[in-house]
Amino acid sequence: WTLIEEKRDKFVKQSLLSDEFIDMMQRNRKPFDLLMSYYQCAIMEIETKFKVLNEEYSLEYDKNPIEGIKSRIKSYDSLLKKIRRKDIPMTLESIEKNITDIAGVRVICSFPADIYEVADSFLRQDDITLLERKDYIQNPKPSGYRSLHLIVQVPIFLQDEKKPVTVEVQFRTIAMDFWASLEHKMRYKKNIPAEQMKYLQDELYDCAEQSAALDKRMQSIRNLIAENKEEEET
Ligand code: GTP
Ligand code: MG
Repeated sequence: WTLIEEKRDKFVKQSLLSDEFIDMMQRNRKPFDLLMSYYQCAIMEIETKFKVLNEEYSLEYDKNPIEGIKSRIKSYDSLLKKIRRKDIPMTLESIEKNITDIAGVRVICSFPADIYEVADSFLRQDDITLLERKDYIQNPKPSGYRSLHLIVQVPIFLQDEKKPVTVEVQFRTIAMDFWASLEHKMRYKKNIPAEQMKYLQDELYDCAEQSAALDKRMQSIRNLIAENKEEEET
């Protein structure tokens, strides 16, 4: 029994369901769920925008720059972790204001140039407000991470209100997503000795550099093909 109890206690600790959070959820369960549903709606709006763009590109330019779209709502656990890390008040208003990645949309593009083309078309839409732009392709993170991050607001239309909702959009190529997904899987592994950790980080960084080099080569191939096509047509 003690073993089971220990396991349960450990689980509760790990899942971070603090009294404070449980308390807020009980007091504010309905408003909290409502807020989460707004984020879900915002994700639907943003996803549709990218599907429309991809459709237009496929008809007009005979290309599909978007390989896929993945969306997610932040889990309670990681929401709570972040509230603690950023040390912000445990209220709905402050969560809405300070946590900008509750709704996340990831747009996977074919080539690096597609990212900027699709992102620009998206930002030109007059109902999208840009709050923050972080270009980790031009300036990769020390880990080697590459991606273009846009924090935007999109309005959602409720019965008698137009509500702006914040969404984080991450643009990646297939290669950037491949690296980030695998690195993310391995990043939280514990009990690794310090000197081995350094080696693993260096290895991962090198893999990021290599996949960025592949992206560049693929982009050059695509550019050459496009140039030839233009010549053919003129
Ligand atoms: P957070 O407070 O963690 O959101 O950091 P931040 O506000 O500086 O945001 P940032 O622009 O760094 O983006 C955070 C998100 O980008 C994460 O949730 C990941 O999805 C992604 N990300 C950032 N750095 C890395 C990295 O080194 N590896 C992987 N796999 N993903 C990363
Ligand atoms: Mg963030």
